[in-house]
Amino acid sequence: MLLRKNEIIGKEVNKTLFSVDNLVMPLFVTEGINIKKPIKNFPGIFHLSINNILKEIDEIGKFGVSAILVFGVTCKKDKIGSYSWNKNGIVQKTIKEIKRRFPQISIIADICLCGYKSDGHCGIFNGNVIDTDLTLKYLSKIALSYAESGADFVAPSAMMDGQVKAIRKILNKNSFKHVRIFDYSAKFASNFYGPFRESLDSSPKFGDRRLYQLDYTNINDALRRMKKSIEEGADIVMVKPALAYLDIIKMAKQKFNVPIAAYNVSGEYSMVKFGSEKHIFDEKNVVFEILTAIKRAGADLIITYHAKDVAKWLKK
Ligand code: PBG
Repeated sequence: MLLRKNEIIGKEVNKTLFSVDNLVMPLFVTEGINIKKPIKNFPGIFHLSINNILKEIDEIGKFGVSAILVFGVTCKKDKIGSYSWNKNGIVQKTIKEIKRRFPQISIIADICLCGYKSDGHCGIFNGNVIDTDLTLKYLSKIALSYAESGADFVAPSAMMDGQVKAIRKILNKNSFKHVRIFDYSAKFASNFYGPFRESLDSSPKFGDRRLYQLDYTNINDALRRMKKSIEEGADIVMVKPALAYLDIIKMAKQKFNVPIAAYNVSGEYSMVKFGSEKHIFDEKNVVFEILTAIKRAGADLIITYHAKDVAKWLKK
């Protein structure tokens, strides 16, 4: 499972290296069959139907990637995002299939409403404020449906206050104590999420996400959120994005005793892809430099769209 063997860091004095075991590959699943649909500003990343996701996992598995983060892409959107907790929803079906075919793969399932709600927001509004209780109720339903499908980790990304506590409670109550929580604890209201929002068609239709995501000028808030998340029962805490937030990763690593994950997000990825296309730098070299920096800062796990390429390069 996650966080095992081959932790290379520390083998040589003053050297930081990462290995394929530190990497998590995000995947986008969509309804249909034989679908492999490119996303305009997200080169090399596709919307895949279940049969193609299985093929992809088989392939990346051969290169040694053993953890994936699953996102559902759907046009079944409504005011409350009800398709997200449908027991036969696209993510739920995908988790079941992956578990059946590849039991050794660690499945992390992203919990959020933004890709399922018509307004693109991560929470439910009551007037112009977020109704936290109602949002937590829905996030918990999603968590339970993922656990029932066989997810190893659930990853709440809504930045709702109390999300870990609510999810831990419903999982424990339904005998899913073994399902772990991979919390997006320090998620900043960032400008680097563009390609992802294009992928999920989840840009907020009004306002922005600063209502619930962190202000990037505020270090204390980020550390407080991570601390609270651990107290509520998070097994892994995440800093997101990664590159502009290496200081936060480092502080988190020094302060907390749980594994730290960093999300090398879509905008960071696409910058590298477009920069390499323009020959500003060599893709492989720049990706190794970036991932080493994230690891050096203290990330135990790195969620990155480069995971497949990196695993291939490492294999050669
Ligand atoms: C949804 C979510 C987002 C990302 C992961 N989960 C986007 C957002 O907050 O708008 C971003 C990932 C990326 O950019 O790669 N809550």
